[in-house]
Amino acid sequence: MKRLIVTGSSGLIGSEAVRHFSSLGYEVHGFDNNMRMDFFGPGGDTRWNRSRMERDCPRFVHHELDVRDRQGINEAVGRLRPDALVHCAAQPSHDLAARRPFDDFDVNAVGTLNLLEAMRQYASESPFVLMSTNKVYGDVPNELPLRELPTRWDYARPEDRLGIDETMRIDGCMHSLFGASKVAADVLAQEYGRYFGMPVCALRGGCLTGASHSGVELHGFLSYLAKCVVGGRPYTINGYKGKQVRDNIHSHDVVTAMQAFIEEPRAGEVYNLGGGRQNSVSMIEAIAAMEMRSKKKLERRYTDRAREGDHICYITDLRKFQAHYPTWRITRRIDDIFDELVEHELALAQNTQTDASEHCSSGASAGTAFPRSASGDRP
Ligand SMILES: NC(=O)c1ccc[n+]([C@@H]2O[C@H](COP(=O)([O-])OP(=O)(O)OC[C@H]3O[C@@H](n4cnc5c(N)ncnc54)[C@H](O)[C@@H]3O)[C@@H](O)[C@H]2O)c1
Repeated sequence: MKRLIVTGSSGLIGSEAVRHFSSLGYEVHGFDNNMRMDFFGPGGDTRWNRSRMERDCPRFVHHELDVRDRQGINEAVGRLRPDALVHCAAQPSHDLAARRPFDDFDVNAVGTLNLLEAMRQYASESPFVLMSTNKVYGDVPNELPLRELPTRWDYARPEDRLGIDETMRIDGCMHSLFGASKVAADVLAQEYGRYFGMPVCALRGGCLTGASHSGVELHGFLSYLAKCVVGGRPYTINGYKGKQVRDNIHSHDVVTAMQAFIEEPRAGEVYNLGGGRQNSVSMIEAIAAMEMRSKKKLERRYTDRAREGDHICYITDLRKFQAHYPTWRITRRIDDIFDELVEHELALAQNTQTDASEHCSSGASAGTAFPRSASGDRP
């Protein structure tokens, strides 16, 4: 039986990887210390997801391991000697990185180095997939000429229509500290491929999404938006008239890309991985789509101040990945993604109402930190 290590296994992409590779027959070992809750508070708590995997995936083993713990990582990788590793653990927010620069760099850059070096020592032939980000391009994408349409920004030149490819430069621009720590991880991963010849790639993600996201204001664009629309929470749009464009890729399509690489690895490649033009949406388009599906009106606020370095229009050019892995394709369209996220939030809201009335009638106290651990549903 093949053995896989997934770091950040309780997060959006990690948990999708656990489920996917478990269904393919892998023994999956997840490393996650629930640091997302430390970063983002109770909304970032991922334990609901961990208990769901422990319930559903028979060959899944959770390790409460911190990727910053060099000795712990070394020992675990040495003991497990995996057939592949997918690295999804991260501090994922720009704003938080500015507040906690050491934690950001230690998790994103040093944690990646710890894993790469442990794999070099104990499993150097095994494929290693790093979840990188399109933020390695900093704000260079904003240099492309844009045109303003009624509900979105778009590229002005026909040659940019298919989006941003891997030749875009990554320096001489503003990244945020988060972008800088991810650049360090991305370049380290490339180097373990080029210098040591290891089968390593960096997947530079666009907006990754799915119902398993513990979405919070600082991270998880569509997941958090769905929460606000359905849950009646106010939502703040930061600048660009709400016309900023993201391309969204479902977590399922991310992990099938990982599988494609693991089955036919190459050394030191980088790939842009997003939803492409067909899955691109502006903020105000996304709000309208979710309001329509939920039949609820978002309480939206607007501030002229855009987030530092925020992309105005980012669409992923998928041609390099598709050329190397021609059978891989996007299977979840943007409408499927909206349906899934809104239905998921509506179902959670329904369950919460049912639970609240049950609590009242039984006289139990409400407000435990993790009320749904038994069923494994998201709090
Ligand atoms: N979600 C997106 O839109 C997006 C976009 C581009 C790239 N990415 C990248 O993809 C990867 C996965 O993103 P995600 O959305 O699944 O993030 P996530 O926050 O949902 O999951 C990350 C997981 O890592 C865990 N973690 C954090 N620090 C840790 C540590 N020190 N040790 C062990 N575990 C730790 C967290 O508890 C969390 O469960 C990240 O590298 C992220 O930067 C995400």
